[in-house]
Amino acid sequence: MYLVKPFSLAFLFVLFSLNFTVAQQQPEIIPMPANYQLNPGEFLWDSKVGITLEGFPDQGNYLQQEALRLLNMPLLEIESASKTIVIKKVNDLKPGYKINIQQNSVTIEASNETGAFYGVISLIQLAHAAKEKHGEIALPNWEIQDSPRYAWRGIMLDESRYFFGMEKVKQLLDHMAYYKLNTFHWHLTDAPGWRIEIKSFPNLATVGGIGNQSEPNAPAAYYTQEEIKEIVRYARERMIQVIPEIDMPGHATAANRAYPEHSGGGSEKYPDFTFHPAKETTYAYLSQILHEVDALFPSNMMHLGGDEVSFGNQMWPKDPDVLKLMAKESLTGMKDVEDYFFERMADTLFRLNNKVLAWDEMATANLPRDKTIIFWWRHDKREQLSLSLKNGYPTVVCPRIPFYFDFLQQEDHKYGRKWAGAFAPLDAVYNFDMDAFGIKKEEEDLILGIQANLWTETVPNEDRFDFLMYPRIAALAEVVWSQKEDQSYPGFMERLAAHLEKYKAEKLYYYDPFDPNHHPEPVYEP
Ligand code: ACM
Repeated sequence: MYLVKPFSLAFLFVLFSLNFTVAQQQPEIIPMPANYQLNPGEFLWDSKVGITLEGFPDQGNYLQQEALRLLNMPLLEIESASKTIVIKKVNDLKPGYKINIQQNSVTIEASNETGAFYGVISLIQLAHAAKEKHGEIALPNWEIQDSPRYAWRGIMLDESRYFFGMEKVKQLLDHMAYYKLNTFHWHLTDAPGWRIEIKSFPNLATVGGIGNQSEPNAPAAYYTQEEIKEIVRYARERMIQVIPEIDMPGHATAANRAYPEHSGGGSEKYPDFTFHPAKETTYAYLSQILHEVDALFPSNMMHLGGDEVSFGNQMWPKDPDVLKLMAKESLTGMKDVEDYFFERMADTLFRLNNKVLAWDEMATANLPRDKTIIFWWRHDKREQLSLSLKNGYPTVVCPRIPFYFDFLQQEDHKYGRKWAGAFAPLDAVYNFDMDAFGIKKEEEDLILGIQANLWTETVPNEDRFDFLMYPRIAALAEVVWSQKEDQSYPGFMERLAAHLEKYKAEKLYYYDPFDPNHHPEPVYEP
């Protein structure tokens, strides 16, 4: 007995220190990098540290800009600096980056701009979490080699229901960059409002832009083409591609207010919901619109929606022109008409050298595999994901549960959606497991990645925007970037603390999972 007790205590002590060491050994980065090692020593980053660029001037500039903004550290291009941060182009590192922190230098290596950018982001995150003390940031000597699990890491924002504007979108792009998310899917048209200037059809913006989800007469709100170009440029600097969505043939109410001659009618609940599928003038009109939209977005991809057409196509089977079209093209039902419409508009995009992107309703249309991307959103229709893959379509995964961020994140929250009692708490976003879907080996490469969608029916203001986006955006980032074996919710929560502090400093109205009453749920009153 006498001998055992002290032995156990010593054993417990060893266990405790091991545990402690394990906890300390994660680099403070979200999303968790693929490979890392902690070497002894640290780099003291102070105001005399210099920056040396051996390639990648734009990413070097971004580091200087963010070091000043987030760390209050100037980074000078002085050759005589005793300690330096080096950004270096190498040839063997596609598509990721390497960071090596040593006593007198930090080296970021990458073979392309994207890799260099993500190396910069990781360094900024490490420094932000390490915190400045007496004008110095002590960075542990990490060696990191990193690359993403999935190529498509997206956020969709609906600005038709409510319009947020340039500054809020730029702030979102800043955070997307901070989490290495690379695709901004911009839902610019829908029933409440049309939000993009089209010069050949000006009423789309000035008439279609009037109103929002709660106020049908709210003054017209939309992005001018110059503003769109500015957002695209800003996103590009942050390695984010911007993909516009021009929703058709449904969700077209706002457009039809501006140009009623192209309406295909609607239902009692959804008046003027569709474009007319049997008028040649409608196809010419929409083609002209897509030409203008294409010229603004260098992504060579456009999302044409294709969702929920049955909400408002009740006039189609009664319309003599639609019946004539059906007879001529041997279309046997309304879904055939919908697919016919969509295939024609997709052809317009192909002539513009664009891929067509569509919601999962289009997984059964006859679209070319090499020019189409399907978005699986109906979590209650798993078969749509299977169909999309079986038909050979590259697919983005964004099921409502847990990736629709307008869904509640806590059982007792009141404002937002639930689906048969289910909602989208932070841990459900984090624990989403693509491996549990049993995707066939030969179809795995068709899964491009994961995206979260912020629909804004219940998001009339920035407080609600922030509350729903932050920090679920961080959980999304780790699910889509990090390998499954590197994911751990407790580890994520430890690293998240520094991010909540950043949100606080940025005056975001974020949801605090450690203290859910820190910011009460913002009220939504339609
Ligand atoms: C959708 O949520 N209607 C794609």
